[in-house]
Amino acid sequence: PPGTGVDHSGALVLGGVPVAELAEAYGTPALVVDEAAIRARARRYADGLAARWPNSRATFASKAFPCTAVYRLLAEEGLGIDVAGGGELTLALAAGADPAGLVVHGNAKTDEELRLAVEAGAGTIVIDNFDDIDKLERILAATRGEQGVLVRVTPDIRPDTHEAVSTGQNGSKFGLLLPQAREAIARLRGSERLRLEGVHVHVGSQILDTEPFARAVEAVAELGEFAVYDLGGGLGARYTYADRPPTVEEYLDALTDVAKRLLPADARILIEPGRSMVAEAGLSLYRVVSVKRGDGPTFVAIDGGMADNLEVSLYQQRFEAAVATRPTGQGEPCRLVGRHCESGDTLSIGVPLQDPRVGDLIAVPVTGAYTYALSNNYNGARRPPVVFVRDGAHRAVVRRETYDDLMRRDLP
Ligand code: LLP
Repeated sequence: PPGTGVDHSGALVLGGVPVAELAEAYGTPALVVDEAAIRARARRYADGLAARWPNSRATFASKAFPCTAVYRLLAEEGLGIDVAGGGELTLALAAGADPAGLVVHGNAKTDEELRLAVEAGAGTIVIDNFDDIDKLERILAATRGEQGVLVRVTPDIRPDTHEAVSTGQNGSKFGLLLPQAREAIARLRGSERLRLEGVHVHVGSQILDTEPFARAVEAVAELGEFAVYDLGGGLGARYTYADRPPTVEEYLDALTDVAKRLLPADARILIEPGRSMVAEAGLSLYRVVSVKRGDGPTFVAIDGGMADNLEVSLYQQRFEAAVATRPTGQGEPCRLVGRHCESGDTLSIGVPLQDPRVGDLIAVPVTGAYTYALSNNYNGARRPPVVFVRDGAHRAVVRRETYDDLMRRDLP
């Protein structure tokens, strides 16, 4: 990943810090994040979009990494923040995000969450269903306020990605199909307190070609002319050497080429990248706990797994891995497995690890997205710390959970 290198002894360095030093300081498992890499990615998105479409804003889909340090960092970079639900909204506000730049999502927003968003002054609420409209009308009638909204459209596009993260197809639980979207738009145009600003589309995640994005823009263009088009997120990350996602620039070209043809020239374009903003900036550190050799594959078992990285179990995502303290590239093909009570708890199949031994430090790169977000306490696991590295310095931004934390909510 960006910022990673190897020193003269072949040991892995991230953000100018040898990762072995981080394992000493913070223990394992640990999620290390290259702060400069996230900032660089944020600028690449924001500047790249502005260069192609000046009236625009890049917004971070915070579900990919909802910790206050990450919110703060992206707010500092001037990005808007996409929040799904009251929890992410609260975290974003606590981190100092500008409420006007918040885009509030959810297919099941409660009255409480909508009220929270309205009271916080969230700039944009995305209408997913007709109930959102009813609820907001009621809330705003009481507060006598106004609220900017977008309508989320389901354009019936099925990108080539895992079914669980495909959202734009007919039959998706998200958004409104084109006829219903038109109906919602008509209703909102007659609303006194809901200010319809435009439409939103998001067709899925970990998308590895640009075509579905271009088709999504074509689909929203069919709905007519609006002031705002939010084109969602979804660009894939490069998890393994075999993955070839489009670059940020290729992705932005695909969107804006269609936009230049089909959208009003003075419209505002928003995008909501999540995964591709943070995935490659993160690296997980583990220790080898056991090495099992037999007839089949060599099992290298580590001190983490599906409690700190659910991508594998939920979406069969594969990761690369390396012994962090020895030169990479060669070695015996190993099955890198977690410590949890499921066979699916496997981070890598056939990854070459050089002479793996108990106590070795293992680095799994490209773990910045949806790992912290989906981390859990399965088998009584304590969630790992998040450590920021930058210019040779490091600091924890989330501490490791303790056994006391595990019991904190239990009542006697
Ligand atoms: N906007 C909306 C409305 C979304 O629902 C999402 C992701 C994004 C933007 C950001 O998409 P991204 O750029 O991250 O692909 N839990 C799954 C990922 C689910 C993504 C859901 N929505 C995972 O861990 O892979």
